[in-house]
Amino acid sequence: MSTLIAVMAGDGVGQEITQEAVRVLQALELDLEFVEAEVGGAAYEAHGHPLPKQTIELAKKAQAVLFGAVGDWKYDELPRHLRPEQAILGLRKELGLFANLRPALLFSSLAEASSLKPEVVSGLDIMIVRELTGDIYFGEPSGVRTVQEGPFAGEQQGFDTMLYAQSEIRRIAHLAFQAAQKRQKKLCSVDKANVLETSQLWRDTVNEVSQEYPDVSLSHMYVDNAAMQLVRAPKEFDVIVTGNLFGDILSDEAAMLTGSIGMLPSASLNDSQQGLYEPIHGSAPDIAGQNKANPLATILSAAMLLRYSLHNDEAANRIERAVQKVLEEGYRTADIEQPGCTLVGTAEMGDAVIQAL
Ligand code: IPM
Ligand code: MG
Repeated sequence: MSTLIAVMAGDGVGQEITQEAVRVLQALELDLEFVEAEVGGAAYEAHGHPLPKQTIELAKKAQAVLFGAVGDWKYDELPRHLRPEQAILGLRKELGLFANLRPALLFSSLAEASSLKPEVVSGLDIMIVRELTGDIYFGEPSGVRTVQEGPFAGEQQGFDTMLYAQSEIRRIAHLAFQAAQKRQKKLCSVDKANVLETSQLWRDTVNEVSQEYPDVSLSHMYVDNAAMQLVRAPKEFDVIVTGNLFGDILSDEAAMLTGSIGMLPSASLNDSQQGLYEPIHGSAPDIAGQNKANPLATILSAAMLLRYSLHNDEAANRIERAVQKVLEEGYRTADIEQPGCTLVGTAEMGDAVIQAL
């Protein structure tokens, strides 16, 4: 029986980039069945909701979701629960995708693209493991209320709740320790334990889990310091594990170290090998439909899909090697353009990768 892959292109450049990733997967001639569903603004236009029921149903049936991007300034005025971002948050929650893997890997041919000095970033290979279904993103209560008394009486006040249960911390910690075991065996847990109770529990729990992984060297870092160390000496890091909010911020920072956010894939996993795979960049509505977007992050997400949901390392490696090769051959989309290279569009980059497979 063929393996069901749900394809959710979403908004902006989503369509173009997922199309290239699907073409690359098809070129591998594996037994995959692709079924498309609408998400984000596109789904709101068609069905009045950014995450329609049929999209959720398809996601649950599929072994993996290949996701493009959601969002457009057009939807900024919509109430929060109808904004395109709710599609991705909803899928994470519905599928229980608690673990987000965000590699920040510098392709040697792109060392010049980083805003940091080449010697600071060359050879960079960090894996950020971000908890994805807890924290202040989903903590209740949250809302806007009218303050009853005190210096702010009568004013509107916004509030969100940072929450982590021990079991949530434990499961992401186990996953991060295991990821570190397959790499350089260094894990840095990032929190704000000098201020936040949630973070103190996080730190204590990660320490407790570390007893089971004596081969991994564990360190702890406050998030502000981690933000600084990431630009000072990023190569000191191997695997970073952190909560949802800190992970959101640090993973964008880490992505930028590599010079192009258009290059980086991500995987979001639950505990039954299902996953959602998406580039970490956004929908870039300003260049949508112009054959300009870099499809490599999505193509590399397809490689992660093969590795983590289909356990096909060999096919994943083939895609990653092909991407490496097209970069070495000098193919560049506009976001990673360099003097002397061959400027190509989205579709041509897809062609080049397929050729290099
Ligand atoms: C990300 C994005 C999302 C997040 C947004 C779109 C809700 O920034 O995947 O990092 O904050 O998690
Ligand atoms: Mg983010």
